[in-house]
This record gives sequence, structure tokens and C-alpha cells, in this order.
Amino acid sequence: MSDKPIIFSGIQPTGCSTLGNYLGALKNWVDLQNDYNCIFSVVDLHSITVRQDATALRKRCMDFLTQYLACGIDGEENIVFFQSHVSAHAELSWILNCFAYMGELNRMTQFKDKSAKHADNINAGLYTYPVLMAADILLYQTDLVPVGIDQKQHLELCRDIAIRFNGIYGDVFKIPEGYIPKEAARIMSLQDPTSKMSKSDPNVNGFISILDDPDTIKRKFKRAVTDSEGEIAFRDGKDGINNLLNIYSAVTGQSVEQSVNEFAGLGYGVLKERVAEAVIEELRPMQERYADLTKNKDYINKIYTEGAKRAGYMAAKTLRKVHRKLGYVDR
Ligand code: TRP
Repeated sequence: MSDKPIIFSGIQPTGCSTLGNYLGALKNWVDLQNDYNCIFSVVDLHSITVRQDATALRKRCMDFLTQYLACGIDGEENIVFFQSHVSAHAELSWILNCFAYMGELNRMTQFKDKSAKHADNINAGLYTYPVLMAADILLYQTDLVPVGIDQKQHLELCRDIAIRFNGIYGDVFKIPEGYIPKEAARIMSLQDPTSKMSKSDPNVNGFISILDDPDTIKRKFKRAVTDSEGEIAFRDGKDGINNLLNIYSAVTGQSVEQSVNEFAGLGYGVLKERVAEAVIEELRPMQERYADLTKNKDYINKIYTEGAKRAGYMAAKTLRKVHRKLGYVDR
């Protein structure tokens, strides 16, 4: 890798990638790869904090990695790999557990949400999830972490742990910055536009999967929840319309204001149709590449094997430094 600054980001192989993930994360990553060395990981270790079916998980992990590549991430220029293939993640995670306070972890809103949702399985992994995320980031001396706004708290914890560790042992970790894309950071559910579009939404009409075919996309937008005012405007209280305008603007690259002007005087039906069309066109090239890639298993295999090798090399360097600082005898 050249000496460009380093980006690390991880995506959970749960559910399917949504339009929200695509506009909020994947699409940005593609732009970032020109200016940064990018390390992208399918965070399969994180995924078992909720129960998974083994066969389905294996398939989903492959699907996600393939989607990264289909979105235009260059797996040879960058590092794309499975988290479980680089054991340093689990190792550093243990160490950082000893530098994270229960009081800090108790405050994590995602933990509170998830334990409410999975009351029958509040496991310790769910609790220390943000520590593993910190390990992911700190292993690579990461400069920048592109994440959705919902991960901001975890990122701050990561910084706190790193600062604490450095305070005791000297400059071991680079303190990472968050990169939260301003536009389209929050694409909301089509069925409940007050909550984030989520791939784990049990109502499939709430989200657009990036692999949804054109008819499905049209149908889902047609059913999108709006309001009864009949006026296309962007303002508080018009969550459904705001969301559609946000999506349209993110996809077309124009400002929300421009979109509002474009639809002035038109009805909700037209808005829904045009948003659907724009989304279909946006996703089409990626979907075509995805179809090609799934036929080329050898290539995919080479990308993640090489990826893990290169990631492992970088991670080992940081872990060695940490071990020395802690006082472990050299291997
Ligand atoms: N927790 C992140 C999410 O749910 C996924 C993640 C794991 C991640 N490790 C990371 C994101 C490291 C950025 C950096 O979206």
C-alpha cells in the first residue's frame, strides 16, 4: 500500500444491504478509494452476537463481499477481507476489554436497543461489541472511519479507549476520526419514516435491498408511507416525503431544494414513480456487475485470501507493539 491515509470500515453480514447502506456507506467508499488506502471488512465476528444459521451466514458473508466489489470497490488496490480470517481482531479485542469500563459500555445505546430486542439472548458479546469494533479500527492505525450516524457513539468509545491506552503506554494507536457523510446519512424506512431504513426490518416493504429487481423497487416505493397533505415540500412533520426527497437527491446528486422545485405542483404518485426510476437506474450497473462476479468464484476467493494476508500483516505489526508495551514475552 502507498502512504495515503488509511480508512477502515466494516459492514455486518446481516439481512441484506439496503439502499440506505448503499447511499450512506458503499457509494461513499467507492469515491474514497482514490484518496485513501481502504480496508473493508465483512465483520462476521460481530454478526454472531445474535444467533445465526451457519449455512445462511456463510452465504451472506460471500454475498456481502461480492456486493462490495460490485459497487466498484477495487479489491486489488484496497484490502477486502473477512474479519474472522485475521485472528488479531479477536486478540486485540480481549486486550482492549481490559481498558474499557463497564460504565462506558452500559451507556451504549445500541446495546440497550439490542438487548431490548433480544431479551432472551443478552450475551457478553453483545455487550463488548463496541470493543471489538475498536480493535478493528485500531489494528490498522486507521485515520478515518466512514460510518453511519448510528455508529458515532461506538467510534467515540474507540477513541476514548485508544487515548486511554496511549496515555499509559505512549503512542501505540493512531486516534481515528469519524467520517459521517452529510448527505444521505439517514435514509429512513419506507413504512415508518421516523426510523432508519434497516435491513433487519421484518417488514420487507420498509427497505430497498440493493439487489431488488426493478418491479420490486417500484412496488415498494408505491407503498411508501407519506401523509395526507398532498403537498411536496421538505419540512418538519413530513417524514415520508422528506425521506423520498432525500433519497431522490442522494441518487441524482442534486440538492434537496432542487428536488423540491422539480416536483413543485406534482402529486405524490409522480414523486414515488420518479424516485423509483432513479433508484433503479442508480443500482442497475452494480446489479449487472454483481451477476457477473457471482459466476467468477475463483476471482472472489483470490480477493479475500489476499486481503486477509495483507490485513493480517498490518494487524500483526500493531499487535506486536501492543504485546511489547503490555510486557508479554516476545514470541
Ligand atoms: N458496528 C458497525 C455497524 O453495525 C460495523 C462495524 C464493525 C464497523 N467494525 C467496524 C464499522 C469498524 C466501522 C469500523 O455498522
